[in-house]
Amino acid sequence: MSTPKVLEVAEFHGDGISHELSRSVHAVAAALPLELRFHPVDLSLERRRHDAEGAYRDAEAAIRKHAVALKYPTTTERESPNKVLRERFDFTVIHRPVSTIPGVPTRHSGLVDLHVIRVAVGGTYEDAGRRVGSDAAVSIRLIERRPSRQAAEFAFRLAQRLGCGVTSSSKYTIQRATDGLFEEVVEEVAQRYPRIHHHAELFDAMLAKLIMRPEDFRIVVCPNEYGDFLSDAACGIVGSVALGASANYAFNDAGDATLAMFDPVGGTAPDIAGNGLANPSGSLWAFAMLLQHCGHLELGQALNDAVRQTLQSGRRTRDLGGALGTDEFAAAVCEALGGKLEASVSRG
Ligand code: IPM
Ligand code: MN
Repeated sequence: MSTPKVLEVAEFHGDGISHELSRSVHAVAAALPLELRFHPVDLSLERRRHDAEGAYRDAEAAIRKHAVALKYPTTTERESPNKVLRERFDFTVIHRPVSTIPGVPTRHSGLVDLHVIRVAVGGTYEDAGRRVGSDAAVSIRLIERRPSRQAAEFAFRLAQRLGCGVTSSSKYTIQRATDGLFEEVVEEVAQRYPRIHHHAELFDAMLAKLIMRPEDFRIVVCPNEYGDFLSDAACGIVGSVALGASANYAFNDAGDATLAMFDPVGGTAPDIAGNGLANPSGSLWAFAMLLQHCGHLELGQALNDAVRQTLQSGRRTRDLGGALGTDEFAAAVCEALGGKLEASVSRG
């Protein structure tokens, strides 16, 4: 992909800590040797309560125009905007890298360096279900070939780049039809990558192993809800859900990503919203993923490293036992980023 010096980005604002997170992204964007043009869309609950369709239409127009979007957390009331956007933009794959940051306090000693690849649609998200009489309820769970194949394809391509294997995980011995189909599709894709080791692992057993020996897992691909559980669990292992960043992709028939949306894994954090205490790491990493996706590989890497370095140096927000506010943390990241950019300029 070409790397123009101006980057246009749709920016989806939400609720709770959304504005604090966005402020951090803008502070960092201003420190980059690149002109960022953000195109804001209001997806707040207030707007959606009286004009949900208009809000989603604006979001759609913006992402179709600019191809990439950054999204902040939104409150789920009637509907989940995440689910609506995934379906509306045909996002079929979610990529969530989670890794240990030396020095950040956790309850675990193992080293996590994991990529969760999640089918973005279907599974239990397909159907909110209905009550059957007063004592029962039922819902349908959906697994489809196309998004499963795209998730598997994404996982194997990533494995090729990283030089590692792929674990697929589900409950295929119990959900024989649905998870059986998912594993069948992953196996079909695996056949086309004979040099990459593929191993199917039951989801419960995989979680236990991941917690005990996280080093054994680099890429795990799974159906929608399992990926949801797994990415939060992995973030918990490394110390905070605020450390998770997420990429959502839509693909054309040739398998190239057409639209992409990047967001932090964590939610709106209403308990601290507006107090300037939120940890913007996940949003800054999401922004770094966006930069890399748009071809700004070095800048994305520099931002990714700057956040890690800041966290490692002990300059942290309160959720990680530090004393910094959101803006102060963002300023520390800008400082680290400045050092990295200068070093790369002087290296030529
Ligand atoms: C996530 C979130 C969403 C999900 C919610 C907000 C619907 O938890 O992106 O992981 O469950 O997928
Ligand atoms: Mn989640």
